[in-house]
Amino acid sequence: MKTKTNCLEYDVGEMVDGDKNSLWHHLKPHKCFGTQEQMIIVEGKGLVLKDIRGKEYLDATSGGVWSVMVGYGRDSIAEAVCEQLKKMNYFAGAYGNIPAIKFANKLLEKLPGHDKVYFSNSGSEANEKAFKIVRQASCIDPARKGKYKIMYRDRDYHGTTIATISASGQAQRKQDFGPFLDGFVEFPHCACYRCPYDKTYGSCDIECARNVEDIILKEGAESIGALIVEPITAGGGILKPVPEYYPILQKICRKYEIWMIMDEVVCGFGRTGKFWGHEHYDVAPDIITMAKGLASSYEALSATVVKQKIYDVFLNDPANPATRLDYFRDISTYGGCTAPMAAALESTRIIDDENLVENSRIMGKYLLERLNELKKYDCVGDVRGQGLFCGIEYVNNKATREPVTEERMATLMGNVVAQGVLVGRTNSSFHDLNNVMNFAPCLIITKKQVDTIVAAVATAIEKTF
Ligand SMILES: Cc1ncc(COP(=O)(O)O)c(C=O)c1O
Repeated sequence: MKTKTNCLEYDVGEMVDGDKNSLWHHLKPHKCFGTQEQMIIVEGKGLVLKDIRGKEYLDATSGGVWSVMVGYGRDSIAEAVCEQLKKMNYFAGAYGNIPAIKFANKLLEKLPGHDKVYFSNSGSEANEKAFKIVRQASCIDPARKGKYKIMYRDRDYHGTTIATISASGQAQRKQDFGPFLDGFVEFPHCACYRCPYDKTYGSCDIECARNVEDIILKEGAESIGALIVEPITAGGGILKPVPEYYPILQKICRKYEIWMIMDEVVCGFGRTGKFWGHEHYDVAPDIITMAKGLASSYEALSATVVKQKIYDVFLNDPANPATRLDYFRDISTYGGCTAPMAAALESTRIIDDENLVENSRIMGKYLLERLNELKKYDCVGDVRGQGLFCGIEYVNNKATREPVTEERMATLMGNVVAQGVLVGRTNSSFHDLNNVMNFAPCLIITKKQVDTIVAAVATAIEKTF
C-alpha cells in the first residue's frame, strides 16, 4: 500500500522542472522561463515568505493580489479548517451547514442594513451573482421590468469571466476577449490625478459623479438595473474618489431606481483602515460583493450580500403561481463547502481580536507618509492611498505627467525584488498607463517592516532612473 500524499516533502530539482514543464502560470509570458527560474514559494510566516531555494522575502502584497489579511502561517485557521473537514466537509448549498450560518450572521453583524448572504467561490463569481440577481429581478418584478443593464467605471475591474470582464474597464486587460456581452455600459473614472474632465478638485463640480446622470439618460434609465463600483479602485491604480463622489452617485442611482453594487472584493476586511472600503463615504450600497480577504485566502470563498428589499423580489414573484419559479435560480457547487466558512470565521475573529483594522489605519497612515517622502524623486508623480492600500504613480515628467513605460516598471520591480521585498503593480491593464506600483501588506505589519519596504523602493528608484 502506498503512503498517503505528502505535499510537504519534495525534491527541489523535480519541482523546478515540474514548474517549467507542467504549470501554466497566471498573467505570465512564459518565454522568460527558458532562461529564468520561476519563483516557487514554499513557506510563509507573518509577512515573510521563503522560496524553494531558501531565499526570504518581505511580502508587501498580501499574497500577490492583496488577500492574506492576517498574515501567513496561522495555526488556528488551519486547525479550524481541519476540525470542520473531519466533521462535515460538504453538502450542496441548497441546504444549511453550521459554519455557513455562523459566518453569514457574522457578516450581517458587520453590515447593518443588509439581510441575506449568498456564498460562492471567487470575486468574479460574487459579481456574476449580483448581475444575475439584477437580471432575474428585471424579469420577475413588474416595477423593475426591463432594467437589466449594468453600468461600470472605465478603470475598475470586477473579474475574469466573460460577464465580469464585460463589466470591467481596463481596455488592455479586455483586449482579445471580445465580443463582450450586451447590457454593460461604461462611465468615466474619478481619478483626480488624471481627471477625465480636465478639472482640479476644489474648483470642479465633481463632474465625474454628476455626469453619470447624462450617460444614464442617454442609455435609457428604464433599462438600467445597477451600477457597480469598487469603493477604491484597486488594480486600476489605487484610485480613491473624493468624499462628495459616492453621495452624488447614490442620489442619481436612487432617482432612477438603479441598485448600487459595491465590489468590496479588495477593500473589504480592513484593507483600507475601516472594515469596509465604502465606510469612508456617506453611502449605503444595495448589494455588496466580497472575496479575497474573506477567509484571508486560507480557503476560497466569496459572498454576495443584499438588502431585504432585493431578497423580497424573489420571495414575492407575482407570476402565475402554477408556473412561477419564485427563487433565485442559481447554484455554485462549491458554495456548499464548509471549510471556507470555518476559515473565514477564524480569520475574521483574528481581525477583530487583534484589532487589525485599527493597525491597518495606523500603519497605513505611516506607510503613506513614508511613501510621500519619495516625491523628492523626479519619477514619482503621485502618491495616494487609504489604510494599507497605497500606490505610487511613476512618470517621465512631473509637469506633463507622461507615464513611464511598462518595461521601465518591470525593471524597477526587479530592482525591488532583488532586495528581498515584494510589491505589486498595474499589469497590462491599460494601453500606456501601467505605471502604478501598489502596496497592500498583511494587516499585521509593523513600523519596522514599513521602513524596510520604503527603503527597498527608494534604492530601486535610484538604480532604475
Ligand atoms: C475589485 C475586484 N473585484 C473582483 C475581482 C475578481 O476576483 P477573483 O479573482 O477572485 O475572481 C478582483 C480580482 O482581483 C478585484 O480586484
